[in-house]
Amino acid sequence: MSDSAQPRRIVILGTGGTIAGRATVAGDNVGYKAGQVPVQELLAGLPAWADQAVDVEQVAQINSKDMTLPVWQALVARLVAHLQRPEVAGVVITHGTDTIEETAWLLQRLLRPARPVVLTCAMRPATAVSPDGPQNLSDALAVVQAPGACGVSVVCGGQAHLAKDVAKVHPYRVQPFSSGEAGPLGVVEEGRLRRFRDWPAAAPEGLDQAAADRFAALRALPRVAWVTSHADADGGLVDALVMQAAHSPDQACRGIVVAGTGNGSLHERLQAALHRARDAGMRVVLATRCTEGSVVGWSAQPFPDLDGLSPAKARLALSLQLAGV
Ligand code: SIN
Repeated sequence: MSDSAQPRRIVILGTGGTIAGRATVAGDNVGYKAGQVPVQELLAGLPAWADQAVDVEQVAQINSKDMTLPVWQALVARLVAHLQRPEVAGVVITHGTDTIEETAWLLQRLLRPARPVVLTCAMRPATAVSPDGPQNLSDALAVVQAPGACGVSVVCGGQAHLAKDVAKVHPYRVQPFSSGEAGPLGVVEEGRLRRFRDWPAAAPEGLDQAAADRFAALRALPRVAWVTSHADADGGLVDALVMQAAHSPDQACRGIVVAGTGNGSLHERLQAALHRARDAGMRVVLATRCTEGSVVGWSAQPFPDLDGLSPAKARLALSLQLAGV
């Protein structure tokens, strides 16, 4: 491809979140409603991008705590459509911070795109005295254009994180994400990504269309519960799930992710209930409730773990596995 034929167009897909949030009292950083400001207006706040080759599309307008399969399916469909346009260099997605790590991981797991897909967000609403959204959006637009950029990442608070590692670890500060021991992909400084780690591997065809098609055909994601072990835990919730599955097979929970203490240890009462669930046909997967590191396998490990994924991502991974996606 000649230099002039390089894809240049950037697409921005809006899904809502605090970055599009509005408070009734100007300057209120917590009492606002997420998902109010159209994504086109968010871009209008960045004059440097006024004359650039950017397409903007509102895919959803939600608080990301309310994420659903249909919204994910709409997002995947629009993302795939845009990534197939030869003139598109990459896609930025605006999203709420609360479940951004799940959406980012889902997109990477499904599509493994060769072109960059950068999710961004904000901790303060657009009406804040000092909103962080404009800088985050500007940084995301820089990362999507970084040389060699590829795969799915999350940009916020001057950092870029890979979908695989990123987790929200703080409920308030403007840099609420961590990639734990792996560290961030890089930092964004004055419109340039200073990268510390490799981009993720891409699908050989540039995008896993077959996985996207399987995902689009789903009518529901198999239910997978997430329970946590703790001091004085018991098996009541797990037994209730097993009982519900016996009475209403249509709505049955088909898997359980258990976030164990430390290296995946489980209260003996909870562990006994999880064995009953497994005997009743549920898939049980182990993770750790520690915010860093992952379960280090041991010989008597009662349940398998899923590639060291956090409980949130393991829950989604198990659901996709059960769905055959
Ligand atoms: C959301 O996740 O949509 C609301 C919270 C946020 O974006 O920080």
